[in-house]
Amino acid sequence: MVSIDLSTQFNIPGTYELFALSDEDTKTVYAYNKAFWLERHSLLDQAGIDRILKVYRARSIDPDRMVPASNIAKLAAPVTDAGGTFSILELGCANGPLLRSLDAINALDGIYHVGVEPYEPFASDYRELYPERRMIHAEAEDFVEMSAIDFPEAPFSIFLSSVTLCLIEPKTAKACLAKAAELCDEIIFYEYVLNGLGPINRQETIVYQFNKTLSQYYFAHNYPAYLADVGFEIVSGIPIAHPNGMEGVGTVEGYALIRAVRKQ
Ligand SMILES: C[S@@+](CC[C@H](N)C(=O)[O-])C[C@H]1O[C@@H](n2cnc3c(N)ncnc32)[C@H](O)[C@@H]1O
Repeated sequence: MVSIDLSTQFNIPGTYELFALSDEDTKTVYAYNKAFWLERHSLLDQAGIDRILKVYRARSIDPDRMVPASNIAKLAAPVTDAGGTFSILELGCANGPLLRSLDAINALDGIYHVGVEPYEPFASDYRELYPERRMIHAEAEDFVEMSAIDFPEAPFSIFLSSVTLCLIEPKTAKACLAKAAELCDEIIFYEYVLNGLGPINRQETIVYQFNKTLSQYYFAHNYPAYLADVGFEIVSGIPIAHPNGMEGVGTVEGYALIRAVRKQ
């Protein structure tokens, strides 16, 4: 269990409970998220790891995952139809569910993908499934230290985060977006957006209670502010009904697919 001060709360109907956190509690939540996402493999046997890989292999055609895929396919079509390559740099790409979503709608041809992923079993599975694409086994902190030399493919057509920036504390999430702005023409994410694009607009750390039983608090970043800091602006947003973190409880409001471009 995470022990943090949850006394500053925001109640918004239809979505998760939101809380403002101190800097100290921000560190605690991020450390907990990292332990959950990056160290699970040392706690699981091979059957447990195989179960996770299977879930993420199947996730590619979940209705919410098809929204990013179909919109990325629309963006890519003018390039790929003309025989060109549309390139995607994806942070936290797991074992490549996006590539399978694109494949499911016959939109994978002409797409080049570089994935950054810290969980080793995902990285190995991706390499096995997509040997012609590129996997960088790294976490957000490593990504922000990389330079253009590490990415000979740059500029990428898009940077993508699909339910990943929400796991990363604000300072590092901002640095990831700064790196994305350096390396990519556009920034696209499927994330929780109610802070800044919903009823609250706060600059301190805000988290949403994703799963009370597992003590999972994810970051509700203020994306309009973060993007403005890196010279980008939002040009479209499509709400997505996201499966509730408390399994079997339907979907939750507050997530969207956001497209941002460099300010003119
Ligand atoms: C909720 S999953 C989403 C996976 C995939 N993008 C999708 O849409 O299904 C979050 C992903 O972010 C990765 N991740 C977790 N913490 C991270 C960190 N600190 N830096 C980079 N990636 C991280 C996880 O290993 C996982 O692959």
